[in-house]
Amino acid sequence: MLEAIWKRQSIRNYLNQEVEEEKLEALLRAAMNAPTARNTQSWRFMVVTNKEALHSMIDLQPYTQMMKSAYCAIIVMGDRNASQPDEYLYVDAAAAIENMLIEGVNQGLGTCWCAIGPSKERIDAFRRYYQIEDHLIPIAAVAVGYGNEEKEKTDRYDPAKVRWFR
Ligand SMILES: Cc1cc2nc3c(=O)[nH]c(=O)nc-3n(C[C@H](O)[C@H](O)[C@H](O)COP(=O)(O)O)c2cc1C
Repeated sequence: MLEAIWKRQSIRNYLNQEVEEEKLEALLRAAMNAPTARNTQSWRFMVVTNKEALHSMIDLQPYTQMMKSAYCAIIVMGDRNASQPDEYLYVDAAAAIENMLIEGVNQGLGTCWCAIGPSKERIDAFRRYYQIEDHLIPIAAVAVGYGNEEKEKTDRYDPAKVRWFR
């Protein structure tokens, strides 16, 4: 397995250390090189480094405690003007997010994927706070920073979850 895939884990504690802009650009470049349905490249990204916004993200989505120590959050949005139905926006975003997380390992960074959509309440809360237009669906917020935790890694490969049609 590619080492970065194996090493990737959700990191929820970060060092108080700035992340170089080139590294954030590397994450975004990885995201934008993911596959999209009909090559619509339907994702849009907002990089949030504003500390007040990071600290209060928990008010919009209760499982984003890690944003308090993260250097930034990358909000991944799907553009309804670029692709339909919404399901495609979600799968396009998911592929881009996973690329970002893997590139994060490559850049020595920790990341954590936090859901926004499909909860309408959360979508509305993020739209209001970040002044996101109606045609954009905020799908996820990815925490990014230099990690400050070591976690056990176990192999989840489970042949019982696989069936073969030969
Ligand atoms: C769609 C999706 C939504 C997630 N939302 C959250 C979240 O809101 N908060 C959080 O701390 N982790 C979130 N996670 C991370 C998962 O909890 C994590 O991937 C899972 O526990 C496996 O751990 P690992 O990433 O370290 O392998 C999310 C992951 C996915 C794929």
